[in-house]
Amino acid sequence: MQIIDGKSVAAQVLEECRAEAADLLARGIKPGLAVVLVGDDPASHVYVGSKVRTCLDLGIHSEKIVLPATTTQEELLAVVHRLNRDEAIHGILVQSPPPDHIDEDTIIRAINPCKDVDGFHPENVAKLTLEDATGFVPCTPAGCMRLLAAAGIATAGANAVVLGRSMIVGKPMALLLLGKNSNATVTIAHSRSRDLPAICRGADILIAAVGRPEMVRADWVREGAVVIDVGINRVLDSSKKSGFRLVGDVAYDEVAPRCKAITPVPGGVGPMTIAMLMKNTLQAARQSIS
Ligand code: GUN
Repeated sequence: MQIIDGKSVAAQVLEECRAEAADLLARGIKPGLAVVLVGDDPASHVYVGSKVRTCLDLGIHSEKIVLPATTTQEELLAVVHRLNRDEAIHGILVQSPPPDHIDEDTIIRAINPCKDVDGFHPENVAKLTLEDATGFVPCTPAGCMRLLAAAGIATAGANAVVLGRSMIVGKPMALLLLGKNSNATVTIAHSRSRDLPAICRGADILIAAVGRPEMVRADWVREGAVVIDVGINRVLDSSKKSGFRLVGDVAYDEVAPRCKAITPVPGGVGPMTIAMLMKNTLQAARQSIS
């Protein structure tokens, strides 16, 4: 059984990014990323802090904009419009989920698609469907594809099951696996699918992205399958100083022994998301001059 080390693959991606940032700088472009966070969700603050630190480390300009939970839709739209006009900013990310009174879809559509490094704008969703490489691919599924490649997993002709149908992970993941660079046979399953365990047992490659702690059990997984666990769930644990620990959507201890390869949580998909965000920011900066 191979444990796919997301930290080490992410470190490779970040070194590629460091070289590319330096190359752009030599050509007079300092890549820039703006990260907008509305409200005080603790996990979101951790993610945003980590995105900003990674930018600094790579020589990418970053602007962190933290707004109170009471920020109105109009105030948030005004921030997005200002960032759209700002020539020092090539990528804009509004951390999800926003507070309930904000309509996330309206905010996403307001972002200039050329700066939409999350790949959530309809124009980028269309480009992913069309396999147009000028679009931005959502960071987490892009990271999963890179992990499969780094682990030497052949996807062509494989039965891939994507558990989850979100716009952030499930749907783009299915499109990437299906695309001409991958050529998997793809099934998308979700909470309303009949007999999820049976569907998952048909997977050579199982991508778990449902957001339910340890939902995927040993008898859901075929012997020799490859399992990519996208879940990052906080579960209460009084033995930890923080009061919680992180678990994936896969019951790792019982599933791992059956697998050909599996990603751990933490240290699997998580580090890849930020690394691919840096890649997308550099793509945005590069495309801004061509
Ligand atoms: N929240 C969790 N993952 C993501 C992501 O990839 N992008 C944004 N904007 N918010 C998130």
